[in-house]
Amino acid sequence: MVSFEDILQQIEQAIRKLEFAYPPKSLYEPISYILSLGGKRIRPALVLMAYNIYKEETVSALSPALGLEVFHNFTLLHDDLMDRADKRRGKPTVHTLWGDNSAILSGDAMLIAAYRLIGETEPKHLKPVLDLFTQTALEICGGQQYDMEFESRQDVTEEEYIEMIRLKTAVLLACSLKTGAILADAPVEDAEHLYQFGIHIGLAFQLQDDLLDVYGDTATFGKNIGGDILCDKKTFLLINAFRRADNRQLVVLNQWIGTGTSDPQGKIAAVTNIYNELGLKALSEQRIEDYFNKAMAHLDALSVPAEKLEVLKEVSLRLMNRKS
Ligand code: IPE
Ligand code: IPE
Ligand code: MG
Ligand code: MG
Ligand code: MG
Repeated sequence: MVSFEDILQQIEQAIRKLEFAYPPKSLYEPISYILSLGGKRIRPALVLMAYNIYKEETVSALSPALGLEVFHNFTLLHDDLMDRADKRRGKPTVHTLWGDNSAILSGDAMLIAAYRLIGETEPKHLKPVLDLFTQTALEICGGQQYDMEFESRQDVTEEEYIEMIRLKTAVLLACSLKTGAILADAPVEDAEHLYQFGIHIGLAFQLQDDLLDVYGDTATFGKNIGGDILCDKKTFLLINAFRRADNRQLVVLNQWIGTGTSDPQGKIAAVTNIYNELGLKALSEQRIEDYFNKAMAHLDALSVPAEKLEVLKEVSLRLMNRKS
């Protein structure tokens, strides 16, 4: 089996070789910038790890894996603009450095470059891989639209939140795994279990992201803490805060949420304080663990010997305890 370290190295090397050096410089510079900032590279790694369950090497799956990472980075350019976020991977976001129009257009170019990379899949698997990717990309747009609409709604339910994060985040992790399975000619049932593993890991991953947005450390998380609170994002934390608040806490929440503020730090402190009073960090961690366990059950249902799953299991565990 190929080790996780080797998989990451293959990905980094291939990303460095991607050519975005055509004129105009102003279109391609933001692309090279965002791709050079690193990140966990978890999506292409999932493609290669899933592929490697069934095949000895990983190189044959590299192009579509890179395509999914370029696509993910495209979503970040647009997402940071939509979320008014000025920090990503510890550095200024593209729109703060080059302007809103650059984030839009360089992002568009990345989406097209992603299609080109995925289009390099050998003919035998091209149609199912492209179909899955296209379906996934549309679902992510849907998830992002819900995410934005929920900012101005006060009655978002936990079920609506879970569906929103399934769409904006989980389907891309699931797509990555299933792409690896398709490329490796895995049995159809295995491909579906890997997809469901990805959905559940993805739900846990986004719950974790929302938790880190409040309780993480900017130095390691690479994003500004409290961004979701400032945008009135309807996270698991905020939805449960409204659900579980007593009258006094409700007054505080209503004073800060949906009202706009000239005191961002005051808002973050007040809302975080309510989360603390209600013990929502622990509640969220419990939910993360539930999804993680459901994810693992899908891995255990695969038709392969347990030792083939060691790398994927180890990486999933590490992902759940991430700081970045
Ligand atoms: C950020 O994804 C967007 C979410 C779905 C939360 P990652 O946390 O995978 O970001 P990078 O690529 O590692 O920076
Ligand atoms: C991101 O959700 C989902 C996509 C990028 C599609 P977030 O808005 O929570 O991601 P971060 O926190 O900015 O990375
Ligand atoms: Mg964001
Ligand atoms: Mg967002
Ligand atoms: Mg986030």
